[in-house]
Amino acid sequence: MGPESEAFVAFALTGGETEYNFVFMRSGPAILQSRRTLLRFLLGSPLLLAARPMAAAEELLEAIAQCEPDLSPVGELITSPEGAINVFDFQAVARQKLSPGHYAYLATGVDHERGLHANRAGFGRFGLRPRRMIDVTDLDTSIEVLGAKLASPIVLAPAGMQSAFHPDAEVAVARAARDADWLQILSTASSKSLDEVVDARGGPVWAMIVAPRFWPLTRWQLRRAEDAGCPVVVITVDYVGFGSQDRLRHFRGPGGMFRTRENPTCEGCHGSGELVRVGKVLTWFGRDPVELASDLLTLDWDIVDRIRDATSMKVVLKGILTHEDAALAVEHGVDGIIVSNHGARQIDNSLSTIEVLPEIVRAVDGHIPVLIDSGFRRGTDVFTALALGASAVCIGRPYLWGLSAFGEEGVAGVLTVLRREFETVMRHMGTRDIASITADFAAGPRSASDLSGTARA
Ligand SMILES: Cc1cc2nc3c(=O)[nH]c(=O)nc-3n(C[C@H](O)[C@H](O)[C@H](O)COP(=O)(O)O)c2cc1C
Repeated sequence: MGPESEAFVAFALTGGETEYNFVFMRSGPAILQSRRTLLRFLLGSPLLLAARPMAAAEELLEAIAQCEPDLSPVGELITSPEGAINVFDFQAVARQKLSPGHYAYLATGVDHERGLHANRAGFGRFGLRPRRMIDVTDLDTSIEVLGAKLASPIVLAPAGMQSAFHPDAEVAVARAARDADWLQILSTASSKSLDEVVDARGGPVWAMIVAPRFWPLTRWQLRRAEDAGCPVVVITVDYVGFGSQDRLRHFRGPGGMFRTRENPTCEGCHGSGELVRVGKVLTWFGRDPVELASDLLTLDWDIVDRIRDATSMKVVLKGILTHEDAALAVEHGVDGIIVSNHGARQIDNSLSTIEVLPEIVRAVDGHIPVLIDSGFRRGTDVFTALALGASAVCIGRPYLWGLSAFGEEGVAGVLTVLRREFETVMRHMGTRDIASITADFAAGPRSASDLSGTARA
């Protein structure tokens, strides 16, 4: 440990989303106290269960495959992004390349993983109504959302610890996003630093932060994002404690780290650019990091108001799933929301996001943009969400499959596939630009006339 990393962050996978559960170990005089903290933490946590022997990698992969709704039977693997027919070709390569533990981190949901299936099945509840005899020779897929002019309505969702997937991690993603001019949202649990990523992107990214009940840390994250030139801060509101990531727990070793045969404690393979900084801030304030992994993350609307008042950035809430919360978000003056169930990684049995989109769009009534994620894998899925009133669609796992498979080129490959599919659907639907994709093009659990009140901001 160099002086620069006097505090380093070890991720303690205590049953929740990996990216925010951290334990701090310090060098120097603080180390004994820290070890005691760590021990107390471990003794009180399900981590001890992780001592069970590791099953064969093949068995573990088989178990994960059960929770992957779309996993194609692994046949011929593509050897370059150009060979991809759809995003699942990248998934198959990612599955083969990553260690079982890292693949589990990428792929799994919670509990029985019904949510993963629900997110995909939800799209089947809506049909599309194509129009004919419309000249679609020239397509325009550009949009403007919260002041950002984007070449595509598809956005890269925040995902933590991407060096588990490729050494270039978020920087590789930023380069691919730069080349295709796509928007990237960077997680506060990024493996690379915000500055490195903004540099690689060659333009602003949106910064995703968690907002703990510890104002100095929240304020510090806001300042950091402002200084890096981020126009928008995305507050993840659905991380309020640990979800039950049952399958992932099979991959935890002593200390909570992912384990593989080659690297039993998985040390050093994640990197943690932004989290190391978060850890330092906490250390400066003498706070116990265990608090951050539990009750400190419980948000309320007062904190949202405080954030809105404290920053010049636009504020977006990620993780809204009901019309009640959407209406409150408008009332509290936030600038946008992301309808998200975190890719079914926090609670199981929530409705799919596409199913709740209409009620949310209706509640928001055009006042603020509504973005959406969770389960989007096809150009058709993106089109459906736009027709139901979404302003843009974020993707998570698909670009991480690309990153895992081929690094920067893989991310670019996924973006190319999705753009191609989306343009194909636009052509078939008779829509030349995003503004022309309206509720008239979708029919679903509600009738087309019920949906006609929905409008994008
Ligand atoms: C490996 C992984 C890490 C993630 N890390 C974060 C995170 O740090 N912050 C966050 O708000 N969401 C995080 N998410 C959730 C994504 O932002 C997004 O909501 C989700 O992946 C969308 O679902 P999809 O993967 O089915 O596209 C993560 C998702 C994955 C797969």
